[in-house]
Amino acid sequence: MTRRYKKIVCAYSGGLDTSVMIPWLRDRYDAEIIAYTGDLGQGEDLAAIRRKAIDTGAAHAEVDDLRERFVREFIWPAVKASALYEGLYPLHTALGRPLLAQRLVEVALEHGADAIAHGCTAKGNDQVRFEITARALAPQLGIIAPLREWELLTREAEVDYAIERGIPIPITREKPYSIDQNLWGCAIECGEMEDLWTEPPADAWQMTKDPSNAPRGSVELIIHFERGIPVAIDGRPMGGVELITYLNDLAGGFGVGRIDMVENRVVGLKSREVYEAPGASLIHMAHTELERICLDRPTFNYKRKLSQDYANIIYDGVWFGPLRDCLQAFLDKSQEVITGEVRIRVSAGLARITGRRSPYSLYDEGLATYSEGDTFDREAASGFMELYGLSYRTVAEVRRRMAREEG
Ligand code: ARG
Repeated sequence: MTRRYKKIVCAYSGGLDTSVMIPWLRDRYDAEIIAYTGDLGQGEDLAAIRRKAIDTGAAHAEVDDLRERFVREFIWPAVKASALYEGLYPLHTALGRPLLAQRLVEVALEHGADAIAHGCTAKGNDQVRFEITARALAPQLGIIAPLREWELLTREAEVDYAIERGIPIPITREKPYSIDQNLWGCAIECGEMEDLWTEPPADAWQMTKDPSNAPRGSVELIIHFERGIPVAIDGRPMGGVELITYLNDLAGGFGVGRIDMVENRVVGLKSREVYEAPGASLIHMAHTELERICLDRPTFNYKRKLSQDYANIIYDGVWFGPLRDCLQAFLDKSQEVITGEVRIRVSAGLARITGRRSPYSLYDEGLATYSEGDTFDREAASGFMELYGLSYRTVAEVRRRMAREEG
């Protein structure tokens, strides 16, 4: 039996699904609907979205600028963790969902609502992220996922539903793609890209220029990090939102940061995902480079293992679970020495590291050099070979004896 709700806070993007959701929820539950929209840097007109929410039947519409909070509480921890899902995807969508869900819950509690609703499909990861976050933060709230239960199975059915009820719907040119964009990147799905062999069409890309049409020549820049976080570019201190935006524009202009991958979703299917992450690509690459010089070998390698676990936590929607807190403590500690600068040269479709330096660098030129001034103790290496090879000498002896006995 359907539960009864009196007031529902609905995640609202201004797109067709969530525009139809508002009247559908109101009619189905005879409830008051509050539309909630969070600005994560998706670059939409938020005042227009608020008006649209009211026009489609919301009693109240709330819009927040979450960009600073997104960077501080979600993106920077992911950078410190070097979190790339299945080695490639910088997780912009997966990082945004727990914050949106957290705000939905906060707004629901402020307004005395008894449920939240989201417009995620049954096949995706986003439903998991919304619902697990809500359950972790306020398990008493009901959760409604209209796209998993309503009778509107196609876009056309949604449009008809809206027209029948005189609800203004976003009249946009039919876009064949599903696009989810924020400050940290963009995901493009559907259309002809569902065939794994088809190259993403030129009009699918949102944040990056085609590298074949990028400017000739190259640009060099220096990213300055403090304790694992980028804080300045070319000596100019910048806040997180400004810094990421700057790098998105610069790298995007050269066609850097395109990712075309097939990934494993939480719900058990594989999907083709085309991503753009110009700024994120540069930041991750520079950050890892600093770790290469500042972390000792066991810590560097241990952290790489945790990065994978941390990326899975983000992807799997369990950001607010206890395991992330535990890993966070390790990661924050490891980042205390990740301070310094990395120089990158950006050209068409390519970013290359050309220099790195840090006050905590463990690189010792005297030890590494093959020129004048070598401080490495050559004789010590001979003793090391003896001991390091000792067990293999024993193995060889045993193998030889076994071969004699068999033969
Ligand atoms: N596959 C990515 C993820 O699960 C991107 C999802 C994009 N979401 C969307 N609603 N288009 O994180």
